[in-house]
Amino acid sequence: MNHHELPLLKRLIDFKKQDSISFHVPGHKNGKVFLEIAKPYFDSILPLDLTELTGLDDLHAPHEAIKEAQDIAADHFGADHTFFLVGGSTSGNLAMILSVCTPGDKIIVQRNSHKSIMNGLELSGAKPIFISPEYDETVHRYTAPSYQTVEQAILKHPDAKALVLTYPDYFGHTYDIQQMIDVAHHHHIPVLVDEAHGVHFSIGEPFPKSALALGADIVVQSAHKMAPAMTMASLLHVKSHIVLVDHVAHYLQIIQSSSPSYPLMASLDIARSYLATVTREEIETIVDSANQVKSVFLQGKHWQVLPTNDPLKLTIQVNNGLSGYEVASYFEKYHVYPELATDKQVLFIHGLGVFQEHKQVENIVKSINEEYNYLSNHATMEVRNLFKDSISELALTYHEMIHIPRKRIQWKEALGYIATEAVIPYPPGIPVILKGERVTEEQIRLIQHLIQQGATFQHQDIEQGIQVFDWCPASGASD
Ligand SMILES: Cc1ncc(COP(=O)(O)O)c(C=O)c1O
Repeated sequence: MNHHELPLLKRLIDFKKQDSISFHVPGHKNGKVFLEIAKPYFDSILPLDLTELTGLDDLHAPHEAIKEAQDIAADHFGADHTFFLVGGSTSGNLAMILSVCTPGDKIIVQRNSHKSIMNGLELSGAKPIFISPEYDETVHRYTAPSYQTVEQAILKHPDAKALVLTYPDYFGHTYDIQQMIDVAHHHHIPVLVDEAHGVHFSIGEPFPKSALALGADIVVQSAHKMAPAMTMASLLHVKSHIVLVDHVAHYLQIIQSSSPSYPLMASLDIARSYLATVTREEIETIVDSANQVKSVFLQGKHWQVLPTNDPLKLTIQVNNGLSGYEVASYFEKYHVYPELATDKQVLFIHGLGVFQEHKQVENIVKSINEEYNYLSNHATMEVRNLFKDSISELALTYHEMIHIPRKRIQWKEALGYIATEAVIPYPPGIPVILKGERVTEEQIRLIQHLIQQGATFQHQDIEQGIQVFDWCPASGASD
């Protein structure tokens, strides 16, 4: 296939050239009805912001330009079938889970998954069997479950309807997912992978292999995270003899808008074409640029640069009593915005651009070196015990949770109660406490620590405590 082709974008441009009269939605009428102040910023995109008109195809029943665009994407990514997503990997994660299980079905899921995976579990009413990640000493955080844990979970629950993994993690960390896929397939269990951060793996070396190339059945990628696509534009790929493409399509049409954005979908055409046609020389220049940024960060006295499998992700491990949040806000003061900060780490996404601003970053690194030439007194906390059991289940089924009364309690009383809501520092969006999980001492300590350090949560009044089921705490709870 010719990957310079942009079937959907071309169709939209041709449509625009007709200078047609709009007796249809959207209400901005090809950009003519709009606020003057906003026009200069939106002018070029609004005429392409069309809808399911004759000749423009329909995402939910594609047979023309959208089908062509999805087919050519499938060819590039090596899928049997690729679906365009306009609701982010979030929509893909929901649909992939719904497509494989019904209420009460078992599904083996990596415990440190993004909240969209957890929300998919709740919507499906499945019975999650969580597998805990290992603490990786080289990158100072929890990464992926071990092969042994995956195998053990499969042997214990061979009737599971799927194995759900995240690969890579937010920081670009990958692991030997192939042997996990192989053992799952050996037991006829499909593998669903949240590859939100790995769309660019299709480029090949020096990036790791995509889970799709390693045999996963469904892979979801946020094209907007690491490729030149608009925010929310994402992809779901199927390559499987086990899962049913029709089921995936069915749930996607339930979850996604019936008026999907054409500029977003066209940006998927653009992202695929970019990934498929970028040259080796261009990739070398990009990776060189990332290495130069890395050498600037290596000058920092108050952190170490962590190893990574993805050369476009730069993570620093902050020490000398400073916190990741402090260092990130120092950069932000000079209008340099990292992707995310945690208590001890800051992630800078270099991406596929070529960086020009090394000097500006170097100046900030130097001034942090000088300004913090004393030991700050930021309290750090080593969290090694967050996931006590390598395989765990929720304390209640999603169905049971519907009927039990709830109450709000303070953190100091929460030990042993079952949470009615997930507690999620954002980013990275991985729940510290899950809905339906019995609250542990380690979780309470971590959340209180994160609140104190200024972490942001997608949660109302997190400082005040947590909502729990009005249910007797288990033994071992505080009096
Ligand atoms: C691992 C992971 N999965 C899924 C998502 C959701 O992706 P999207 O923002 O494309 O909906 C994110 C978002 O950050 C993520 O980090």
